[in-house]
Formats: sequence, structure tokens, C-alpha cells
Amino acid sequence: MKNINKLIQPGRVHRSVYTDSEIYDAEMENIFRANWVFLLHESQIPNVNDFQTIRVGGRPLIVVRKGDDDFQVLLNRCPHRGAKVCRNSSGNSKTFTCPYHGWKFKNSGKAFVIPGQDAYGDCFDKDSFSMTALPRVESYRGFIFGSGNESAVSLEEHLGNARKYLDEWLNQGGDIRVSNSVQRYEIHCNWKLIFDNAGDGYHVPFSHQSLIQMTTLRHGGGDMQYFGSADETEMKVYSLGNGHSVIDQRPEMYKTSAWNQQRPQPGRESFESNVRSHHSEPEKTLDMAVGAGMNLNIFPNLLLIGNQIQVIDPLSVNKTVLHWYATLLDDEDEELNAIRMRTQEDFPIMGEVDDAANFESCQEGLESMPEIEWVDISRHMNDAEGAGYDNILTNKPTSEIHSRSYFDTWKRLMTEEPDSENLEV
Ligand code: FES
Ligand SMILES: [Fe+2]
Repeated sequence: MKNINKLIQPGRVHRSVYTDSEIYDAEMENIFRANWVFLLHESQIPNVNDFQTIRVGGRPLIVVRKGDDDFQVLLNRCPHRGAKVCRNSSGNSKTFTCPYHGWKFKNSGKAFVIPGQDAYGDCFDKDSFSMTALPRVESYRGFIFGSGNESAVSLEEHLGNARKYLDEWLNQGGDIRVSNSVQRYEIHCNWKLIFDNAGDGYHVPFSHQSLIQMTTLRHGGGDMQYFGSADETEMKVYSLGNGHSVIDQRPEMYKTSAWNQQRPQPGRESFESNVRSHHSEPEKTLDMAVGAGMNLNIFPNLLLIGNQIQVIDPLSVNKTVLHWYATLLDDEDEELNAIRMRTQEDFPIMGEVDDAANFESCQEGLESMPEIEWVDISRHMNDAEGAGYDNILTNKPTSEIHSRSYFDTWKRLMTEEPDSENLEV
């Protein structure tokens, strides 16, 4: 494989980082298998024996709830000949049966029925044919993460400074529930083009120009307009370590009323008048309904955007699925959740397509013209990026500090040999 250290230089990244299949394969091993990755939210499997099948780093997994705070993750690969054992997207079951030759497994992974077992002779050891489980599964306030690396640092350590922002994101006046439905985009791009963009406060007035213009023409301005001169605002981007970052939009979004800055949604007027007549702090309730005011990026695959959750699901070096989930408040009335849903539909429908078009366009440019070798990530690089509280680095919102920082982590993970003795699965 190419010399990784030469591909990441101050303020620039070599194109092959986005186009080389060997590098992609190493990422799946060193980053998606040996590091912590987001799996799903506890509310997606609320009852004991609930399960969901997901794909992380190209590997099909089954996430099972075994108890109140007990989760098990099985590699969805039959120990017999390799077929996918569970082919339902979700359900509730104590067992899984492989459709190919009918082997049955408990949801702990243990094999308990092998049809025609006698044919294997006396030495056959059923126990050695259990489904394989991920060695590390931990949850942080509802977010379930996993790692194939027995000796990975604790999840708390991995999240590090991002915990403070995750806690603030969760401070929404109730428990979060992730909606059952999801918007999925299959995008012809490397997964990192999506991660780059999640911390990019520079592109908004250009890429999302039509959305901002429509808001201005029809509704006299509002949401996201403050990105027009982002560096003159009090917004900041923070590099949190371990590849995580946040663009904190709250200083602008909540400067006046986040609620008033939103584009109109069906049902908005009656919702607002109800909240104003029944809630003790109506402004807070209304503001909370429209978003958390931050883009919080947990490396490598979890992006919290407003009240939504995005999950990055790489399929190959130039193909990625992006899953968008809306979040609801568990105990809140349907009206509040309906308005949360309307707001959370707004950007994926009208804005994400702008981003996806750019991701595919970048991929085409990077793949088709190898003589142009470098991708620039030097914006605001010469500004002082003070190591303040807990070594959190900060810079102006259009800075590319997010990419520079996560590529430092990327380089470290890609050059560390994962200890194969500890890499259990
Ligand atoms: S591959 Fe699963 S039972 Fe044969
Ligand atoms: Fe965007």
C-alpha cells in the first residue's frame, strides 16, 4: 500500500485517499473494525429480544437487546457456509434460523439445532459453530457503539471531548427516540467526502444557495442565512480530538428565535398557538422543536445534524449509503413530534441533494484526473488554533480544521498496525 504518511500533508490530502481500493480496504480494517463505530440507538430495539440488522464497514451485523442495558452484536454470517443468517431488517426473536441449510442459533449466537447432525460423526462439536459476537459493545446515553478490537480504549475515552456536546445535544427536555423510518441515499462517492462536508461551514451559501434564496424570496429570510458571512458571526468550529468535531451554530441560531427563523411547515400555526397557551416556557419549547443548533461529528460514521442522526455506511471505495433518521421525544405529545418531523424533513429533502451532487462531482474529478493530485484543506490554517479547555482546538466556522484534525486521527489509525491478536473479529 502507498506510504500513508506522505498522503496527508499540512493543508492537503492526496486524491488516492478517496480513490484507492487498497486504502479503502485498510480503512475498513483499521478504522471500522479496530476502532469504535456507531451501531444504532437503543430506542430502535426497545424490548428484550428485539433486533435490527445493520451493515457497518461493509459487514452485516445483528444488534440484539438482551436486557435493559445489555446488547449483543453478532456477525451476520453463518458458521456453516457463510450465508447471511438473519435477512429481516428488524424483529423480536430468541432465535435465528439460517435459510440455507436450516441451522438454528440462539440470539446469543449459540448453535442449538443442526439438521441431520448425525451425518457429521461423533467428533462434531456443535459449540465450535456458534455465530461470532463483537468483543466490545458499549452504550453512551442511548447510543450503542461496537468494536472488533478487544483492547480498544473505553467508549468514554474514545468519545472524549465529544461527550460534552453529546450531553448538550441530548438536553432536549426528554428522552430521545429514533424514528422507525429512514431516508437513505446511495451516493457514488468515498465515505470521507461525506465526513468532510459534515464539518464544512464554508459551502453553505454556495451549495445551498437555492434553498436560502427560496427562504428569502418567499419568507423574508431566516434559517441558515447567517452562514452568508459565517466568519463574522460568533459561530465556531471545534476540533474535539479522536477525529470528532462540532460546528456550533447556537450563537446565531438562538440569537433571536430559532423557531421564527424556520421556514413554514404544515400545522405550524396551530402548534404555536397551542404551545403559547399551554406551556410555561413556550419560547424554549418552540426553539427545541426545530433543532439542536449544532453539527456534531463522531468519527467515523455518526453525524448529528440539528435534531437528526446521519449514519455513514461505506459500500466500496466510491459508493456510500447515507442513512438519515429523525428523532422524536419519547414522552411528548404527537403535535410536538409532528412539528419535529416536519422540520427534520425539510433539510434532507431540500438540502441534502445539493451536498450529494457535490460529493459525486468531487469523486468524478478525483478519479478521472489523476494528474491533479491534491485536495486542499488549508482554509484558516494559519490562524491561531488555540488549545483551550481540554485541548479543544477552535477556529472560525469556515475553517477546514475539521478535516485537518480528523485526518490526523485517520493517519494515526491507518499507520498503527491493529494488534491482530486482539482483533477478535
Ligand atoms: S450456510 Fe447456514 S446453514 Fe448452511
Ligand atoms: Fe450542506
